[in-house]
Amino acid sequence: MPAFDATPPTLDGFDQLVADPSEYSIEPPAEEQIKRDACLEHPLIEAEIELLIDCLIGDAAPDEAIDVSTNFRSSEFDIATSALTVNGWCVVSTFLSQTQTQALSTECMAMHDAQLLKPARVGANRAATLLRGDSTRWFQPDALSIQQQAFTDRIEALRNALNRDLFLGLVDTESHYAVYRPGAGYARHLDCLRNNDSRVISAVFYLNEAWQDADGGALRLYLADQSYHDVFPRAGTLLLFLSAQFEHEVLPATRDRMSIACWMRQRA
Ligand code: OGA
Ligand code: MN
Repeated sequence: MPAFDATPPTLDGFDQLVADPSEYSIEPPAEEQIKRDACLEHPLIEAEIELLIDCLIGDAAPDEAIDVSTNFRSSEFDIATSALTVNGWCVVSTFLSQTQTQALSTECMAMHDAQLLKPARVGANRAATLLRGDSTRWFQPDALSIQQQAFTDRIEALRNALNRDLFLGLVDTESHYAVYRPGAGYARHLDCLRNNDSRVISAVFYLNEAWQDADGGALRLYLADQSYHDVFPRAGTLLLFLSAQFEHEVLPATRDRMSIACWMRQRA
């Protein structure tokens, strides 16, 4: 009998992340296909959870006042709310203009180069970069840049549309920039904080110009029937899904991969 158990903890999520990179290249879905898929019916049964639960994603975001001033509505949002109701997820292919998206991309990379983004953490393990390899920086609600304000206005308009159409009672949104360097990923997880189910909708907005499927870096969304759907991080694409229902992972890419991850929250 050894005096202590020297077996290192296994990193299942990481093993899964790096075991077989060839698994990560699947048939690239065409933009139209993504839209069609988002409108197909998938029953929302609870998936079996045998995976990493994301206990703490970075630091807590600063509190944000409830904003009911934005009342903008578009038919794209109508489609998004319908798809969310039926499927629990959807992709909006042009959430912001190209100019606005480029401004966010430029700012994100400049902040990254200035080392303003910090390595993200998973749970209490501050060195778990094998499970989660991105660096992040929260938007500060009272100190938004012009481009962050434009993005936030649009997200708030979407949040208001979701409240109006789906009665979700979403009181605010927290957002952060994320940069994944080449080879970095995020193991399969659920976006919920330990002892806190305030996150209802996860939204990820992508900032990467001229992204090719061969660059990798898809967000792999696991569906209720155990199949999955890969969303490539192309500039202008917004992915929405129910935070508590969909496990997902970020596959490694061959180039820098930038996004804005957001969570629309209910009162905890
Ligand atoms: C997250 C996450 C996905 C992405 O930050 O929780 O899953 O595509 N991000 O950046
Ligand atoms: Mn996530």
